[in-house]
Amino acid sequence: MCGIVGYVGGQSALGVVLEGLRRLEYRGYDSAGVAVLASSRLLLAKKAGKLSNLEKLLAEASEAELRTGTTGIGHTRWATHGGPTDRNAHPHLSADGRIAVIHNGIIENFAKLRAELQASGVEFASDTDTECVAHLLAAELAGVAGSPQALADAMRRVCNRLEGAFTLLAVDAQAPGAVVGARRNSPLVVGRGNGENFLASDVSAFIEHTREAVELGQDQIVLITAEAIEITDFAGNPAQGRDYHVDWDARAAEKDGHAWFMLKEIAEQPQAVADTLRGRIGEHGEIMLDEVRLTDQDLRDVDKVFIVSCGTSYHAGLVAKYAIEHWTRIPCEVELASEFRYRDPVLDRSTLVVVISQSGETMDTLMALRHAKEQKARVLAICNTNGSTIPRESDAVLYTHGGPEIAVASTKAFLTQLAACFLVGLHLAQVRGVKYADEVGAVLAQLQEMPAKIEKVLAAMDPVRELGRQLAETNASTVLFIGRHVGYPVALEGALKLKELAYLHAEGFAAGELKHGPIALIAGPAGDGRAFDRGTPVVCIVPSPAGRGVLHDKIVSNIQEVRARGAHTIVIAEEGDDAVVPYADMLVRVPRTPTLLAPFVTTVPLQVLAAAIADASGHDVDQPRNLAKSVTVE
Ligand code: G6P
Repeated sequence: MCGIVGYVGGQSALGVVLEGLRRLEYRGYDSAGVAVLASSRLLLAKKAGKLSNLEKLLAEASEAELRTGTTGIGHTRWATHGGPTDRNAHPHLSADGRIAVIHNGIIENFAKLRAELQASGVEFASDTDTECVAHLLAAELAGVAGSPQALADAMRRVCNRLEGAFTLLAVDAQAPGAVVGARRNSPLVVGRGNGENFLASDVSAFIEHTREAVELGQDQIVLITAEAIEITDFAGNPAQGRDYHVDWDARAAEKDGHAWFMLKEIAEQPQAVADTLRGRIGEHGEIMLDEVRLTDQDLRDVDKVFIVSCGTSYHAGLVAKYAIEHWTRIPCEVELASEFRYRDPVLDRSTLVVVISQSGETMDTLMALRHAKEQKARVLAICNTNGSTIPRESDAVLYTHGGPEIAVASTKAFLTQLAACFLVGLHLAQVRGVKYADEVGAVLAQLQEMPAKIEKVLAAMDPVRELGRQLAETNASTVLFIGRHVGYPVALEGALKLKELAYLHAEGFAAGELKHGPIALIAGPAGDGRAFDRGTPVVCIVPSPAGRGVLHDKIVSNIQEVRARGAHTIVIAEEGDDAVVPYADMLVRVPRTPTLLAPFVTTVPLQVLAAAIADASGHDVDQPRNLAKSVTVE
């Protein structure tokens, strides 16, 4: 939610910052802007809409210094305070034009600060909360000779007055060669270069230049110059960041020949799942997490598990519940992070809260995590982003090694989260002694087979893409998804993908629940001559007949029920499952897979379908309207 880049070094700051913004655009694309410091002039350009609008504006800009300046900041916005207009685009300037500020987050006491500043005669040029910070910094620096240190001191004093969540970057026209950053509850990482340093919302912004990163702690100020990185806390005491090496390179954040990042990320799923599973087995056959600040006894004491997350990560949690309860016999509840803390859940020392987050920065999830910790629960994070806030604040961490996920709609993160959840379930079962090593080994062997199976599904997706094109052409008005057991969360995920990408009304249902109401939505062919005139499309996720036969038989009945009412059935079923053939208007085959692990293969066609409809409808597949990838506001 809002992408931020800062640079000081020997290169053109504009070039580095724009490239960084391009990689961060998934975080928000309501507007974009840059500020470059050249000699002692502060040059600014900003524009509503996508980054390409700003780039067009810059192509016409005449100031050569805009390109030669070597200190700069840039921002890509997901609007919170103030509409997505040119004037609300960041950076924001102080009234004297000396200070430029960019911001990610929400300053909760901004109304009070704004009123105070207005009372002292300051005129505001935007509707944003951010602009307050520019004026407050200018007030702190009034009459003070500009220097990097003075800017850092002013930032510290201002931050102590702010409430809410923020990452802030500021430059001072009188302090060339320095960018100051601050963070509270919002992401900011430092890139350590050679004769140049970087600040960004995430490492993808500077990965082309350096893979050495420094993770900042909560409530810290960082001052970068070309040669130095200085970190202090909000009280001015020297502080330490955590240095780490980024283990993927710039190519991982490129489209690599695919039309969209999402298509690349769908294709990467076999590798991403394999990487998440790799190296997890210790010398004695035990499953290893990445960071564990919990003892085995803590895990043995667990008597209840909550899984807390948002969006697609929430759906991964819904699948995990089936596995965790089945393997460990511990009750497991799955909660939307945005609801969790507000309903006062019953938590104590023997509760394990598993938070799942691709970005590691989702504010709803972070707040749920903090609530859980306040209640003394143990927190285990499943996360894809090293150095992010959620794993840092958790008691234990399992990283999904999915590589960067750029497309706003999550795909490979989901499958890698499933892999990680299953590992957590097995780890718990092992530590608590409810599964023998050979039983754990047998499930692990099944998990290891998933990458090849996903590959097989991917190779057979042409008919699904064709269906996507037909649905786009005919403006289908609604698509339903039904499933049972782990197929139910898959149905929810399939529907979410369609809503996000195709802007198409879609709903996922537990197949057994259809008859209690939703079946009324099913309509037969309208007979109005449109190309897709085959009744309401219903995607049916069928469990393996080799698993619990009852489950399979029940869903076959549900398919018959919807078909009898005129639905067009798109059936996702295992190879060799002939029982579904008579009821499938379209049949998508997936490899045979144990029931619990089936979401690895059944989710993939739903991702492909959504991307195909979106693409054929002319939508931006990677950046759907109104959304952002990393949602750092509640
Ligand atoms: C946003 C994204 C979703 C994502 C959700 C949770 O809403 O658009 O794709 O699933 O956040 O994100 P997280 O990073 O916590 O997994």
